[in-house]
Amino acid sequence: MKVAVIHGPNLRLLGKREPEVYGTDTLDDVNRKLGELAKTLGVELEMFQSNHEGEILDFIADAAPRVSGFLINPGAFTHTSIALLDAFLGVSRPFVEVHLSNLARREEFRHHSYLSGAAVGVVYGFGVQSYLLGLRGLAARLGAS
Ligand code: DQA
Repeated sequence: MKVAVIHGPNLRLLGKREPEVYGTDTLDDVNRKLGELAKTLGVELEMFQSNHEGEILDFIADAAPRVSGFLINPGAFTHTSIALLDAFLGVSRPFVEVHLSNLARREEFRHHSYLSGAAVGVVYGFGVQSYLLGLRGLAARLGAS
């Protein structure tokens, strides 16, 4: 079983970017930890990062036939992108939304997500653990161990 992991805009700066908000793990660290967990769950991962909304939309459509679901940190597109919501609705694949920071404790504009209502579940506030918890939840939903 394969899951695509999507990191949205600015997430390649992890480790350097506002470490007091997002922690000191780099994107490679996050991907490595996800890879280790995925092995124990019997899940294969495909990683993707882009700062460009259209590239993410294309990736979702292109990857959907080869994956069972998506794990996504949509970054700032969470709060702006109806197109991202439509991309997921269009491919009928379950997805889990994750965020490093606790959105509810942050600025008002981060409280709304266009995606959450269509997600299997949402995990936020646990740093890199949000991704790991999200992957566990998605794997369980997909029937992996
Ligand atoms: C984020 C939260 C978003 O509001 C922000 O724009 C990000 C990162 C998080 O992981 O906490 O880029 O998705």
